[in-house]
Order: sequence, then C-alpha cells, then structure tokens
Amino acid sequence: MRIGVLTAGGDCPGLNAVIRSVVHRAVTGHADEVIGFEDGFVGLLEGRFRELDLDSVSGILARGGTILGSARLERARLREAADNADELCRRYGIDVLIPIGGEGTLTAARMLSDAGMPVVGVPKTIDNDINGTDRTFGFDTAVTVATEAIDRLQTTAESHQRVMVVEVMGRHAGWIALEAGMASGAHGICVPERPFDPADLVDMVEKRFARGKKFAVVCVAEGAHPAKDTMDYGVGAIDKYGHERFAGIGTTLARELEARLGKEARPVILGHVQRGGVPTPYDRVLATRFGWHAVEAAHARSFGHMTALHGTRISLVPLADAVTHLKTVPENRMDEAESVY
Ligand code: F6P
Repeated sequence: MRIGVLTAGGDCPGLNAVIRSVVHRAVTGHADEVIGFEDGFVGLLEGRFRELDLDSVSGILARGGTILGSARLERARLREAADNADELCRRYGIDVLIPIGGEGTLTAARMLSDAGMPVVGVPKTIDNDINGTDRTFGFDTAVTVATEAIDRLQTTAESHQRVMVVEVMGRHAGWIALEAGMASGAHGICVPERPFDPADLVDMVEKRFARGKKFAVVCVAEGAHPAKDTMDYGVGAIDKYGHERFAGIGTTLARELEARLGKEARPVILGHVQRGGVPTPYDRVLATRFGWHAVEAAHARSFGHMTALHGTRISLVPLADAVTHLKTVPENRMDEAESVY
C-alpha cells in the first residue's frame, strides 16, 4: 500500500509522534510506502511531497511542531481538492490519505472522502473539542503549560496584591481554561460555553481580600465573553478561513476589573506558547497509538473514519459524526469548577 500523510490547521504537540508512528507501522508492519505532503492540503494540491522512511522519522517522537509543515486552506481551494479527489490519488499513486488535524481538517477530510478519496483521519487539537473522541493529543501538553504558568502567576500575584487575568486558547470550547484553571486553583474560570458576569468576579476578589487573601487569578478562554449588558466587549473580525479574530478578552477583562475594583489587575496572554515545544508523555503515547491504528484502519479499508479514544481503547468513528458539532464543556464540568473564595 502507498500511504499519503499530511498535517493541517494549527500545529499541536504530538503531530510528529503520529507521523513517526504511521511510518513505523506502515513500513515495518506492512512493508508499505509512505509519502508526506508539505504544508497540509496545500502540498497535496501543489505537488509538494517527500518519501518518508524510517530514517526520515528518526528522533522526532518528542519534537514539537510538525516536520511536514502545516497550513490552513481557504474553502474554495478545498473544494478544488475534492473536485479532483480521484485524479489526486492517481497523480501520487496513493491508496489512502491520512490527514492529521482539527475540526477544519477533518471537515476537509470528510469532503474528500465523500468525493471518493480513501481517507482515514487522525484528530488533533490542543482545544480538545473534536466530537467523538474523549481526548485529542496536544491537549494534555497545553494544559500542562498553562497550569505551570498559572502556578507561577499565583506567587507573583500574591507578592504584589494583584489580580492576574490569564488568557488561554480555546475559541469555542473552554477545556484548557477549565482544566488548567482547576489544576492550578485559579479563583475564577471563564469559558465560551457560559457567558460570565464581571460583577461575580469583582465579588470573588473582594471576598478574598476581605478574608486576607489579597490576590486572585482568573483563567479566561480566548473565546469567553461577558453576559449581555454586563460589560463592553466588541466582536472581532472574521479572517479568510472563517475564524473570528477575538477582541482580546484577557486585556479587556483585566482593565474592567481594575476599574471596578480600584486594585491592580494585569493581563497575561499565553498564546502560542501552549502549542509549542515538546509533547507530554501522555500526548506522545496517544499520538503514537492514533498513528498505529490509522494504518491498521487503512489496511482494513475502514475509510471515511477517524481514530478516537474511548476510555482507554482506540476505536474508529465516522468522520461524519466527528464534524457535526464541537465537543464543548458540559454544564456539570463547569459546576464542579465553580469559584472558591
Ligand atoms: O485550534 C487550535 C488553536 O490553537 C486555537 O486554540 C486557537 O484559537 C487557534 O488555533 C489559533 O490559530 P492561529 O495560530 O492560526 O492564530
């Protein structure tokens, strides 16, 4: 079998572990050939690819980013790929494509699959918001990075009697804010799923100061927003990939809290630091298992599916189920994380 693999969308710790695992399983387990397309679907459309053998994936298990490069692609160009699905397979001689990516990539994978291309997807995203899998690799690393950052901010906030507002990634789902906030004992957690009232945060900070705890840390997802009529907060523009460019909730909220409390409040935007660098052992293992199972799925001709984690088991989920909606934080998980003054 000849397998094409690509990484698309935002990068994520563990991508290289999947690529390595696909090559290992394909070459040593099945005597397959593997080619890697550069810069995601762009490389597939533009004919940029290279052969991947055991040597080319040696030493990449723990490396962040992706050796293949990644890119987002406009919808119109994806349509072009879907319209030429058969021809693309023939051009590269591939029997299956393994795209590794988040919601946008898996939606593209589904389009290609519907157009007749044999596809097995592998879900990735630090946001952990792909439906149909308990976890995506990259999430554990992002939570680890954010938790360490918030732990550090707790001590400096206490030294200076400040409120720290830490903005983490999470456009539509607040999994990173929830888990990093819980793990580091943040005093307030704001997620996109549940609009917040800044008055509640003010109340929390005042109660803490009243009992002698003269600092507070609020962990806010980039996509979190205030409840209607509670605070001024503009809507961001939409970029060419259909993503909202956020107006900067961390900075706006810090400013708002400072004005309402009359106490110093500082924003800290963690940004892409959550996505860079080495994956945690958990993510390396999950990514490696996904790669192994993607190759097995290809040989079983289970096309139109993606690998998924259910409990401790890896299974296959139809791409159609994976992309119907995002996996957001349920109410009960937010209830468990309610502020402790
Ligand atoms: O989907 C992964 C993600 O890291 C989001 O959490 C974040 O909003 C987005 O990608 C950032 O994308 P970019 O690197 O294109 O700004």
